[in-house]
Amino acid sequence: MTKIEGWTQSYIDRINSALESSIPKDKDILTQAIRYSVLSGGKRLRPLLVYLASELGSAPTEAQDNVGCSVELIHCYSLIHDDLPAMDDDSLRRGKPTCHKKFGDAIAILAGDALQPLAYTLITESNQIEDKTKVKLVSILSKACGWDGMVEGQILDISDHDYFSLEELDSMHMKKTGILIIACLEMGGMISDLPEPEIKLLKQFGKKVGLAFQIRDDVIDLESPPEVSGKAQGSDLIKEKLTYPSLIGIKASKERAIELSEEAKEFAKKLSGDSNKLIKLCDFIVQRDY
Ligand code: IPE
Ligand code: IPE
Ligand code: MG
Ligand code: MG
Ligand code: MG
Repeated sequence: MTKIEGWTQSYIDRINSALESSIPKDKDILTQAIRYSVLSGGKRLRPLLVYLASELGSAPTEAQDNVGCSVELIHCYSLIHDDLPAMDDDSLRRGKPTCHKKFGDAIAILAGDALQPLAYTLITESNQIEDKTKVKLVSILSKACGWDGMVEGQILDISDHDYFSLEELDSMHMKKTGILIIACLEMGGMISDLPEPEIKLLKQFGKKVGLAFQIRDDVIDLESPPEVSGKAQGSDLIKEKLTYPSLIGIKASKERAIELSEEAKEFAKKLSGDSNKLIKLCDFIVQRDY
């Protein structure tokens, strides 16, 4: 099994502890559902991208944590809703029953609903981000997950597909997954006040790894058993989802993901700061089995 490299552990510990203190602690059912879904493991790849992008400059620690938590909460909301019976109807997430299996559909919907504004308040109430930067961050994040971003990607994902071109599949994957990944890199760069050309490179890098990430996710659905992926195996297949392997086959899908990760590395190499960690992460993204 391809495990995430050891150097990432300190970032993961850091985001886990920031998340723990960013979400509610009451004992009511909604809070329990939120805590269950947010503090349930997960690779924390999106906050990791925020940290690595912001380390190309010098963002204050608290700003990095606030933005890292913010993107992870949006991601957690998207997973809770993605698993609902009306969407992918999945029972296993991060190796545990999905939020709606444990708490019921209504609480799962509301937990997802509650995570979204919470994500934004982590940015707006941050003490170490300038007001004008906060506005930009909120704008980037809300566009990434809005009606023509992640939500549109999810609509395409659950729509019937009689015919689909590779171009349309790329667009669906970009919207449902890639855009949030690009936003993580852009927001990380922004809290470090990186110059515009550097942010542009980060976004170009994100576009490649974002697509590669979702292609690998499609492969994982077919190849990884639940004890490795934490999700049901073959879920996409059963639901006849449009995926990279369903359109071009598993071998070509793996090759395409690797090709994209190599292209991503080329953008990362052009960054003026030390981009070694971003480069190393590319290999994990396309070789992971979870
Ligand atoms: C799964 O994302 C959903 C997709 C967008 C493909 P991750 O594979 O990052 O899930 P966690 O956070 O590690 O559980
Ligand atoms: C999920 O994509 C994308 C979002 C949550 C926006 P998938 O449906 O492929 O993710 P998994 O495989 O359930 O994690
Ligand atoms: Mg889905
Ligand atoms: Mg799903
Ligand atoms: Mg999937």
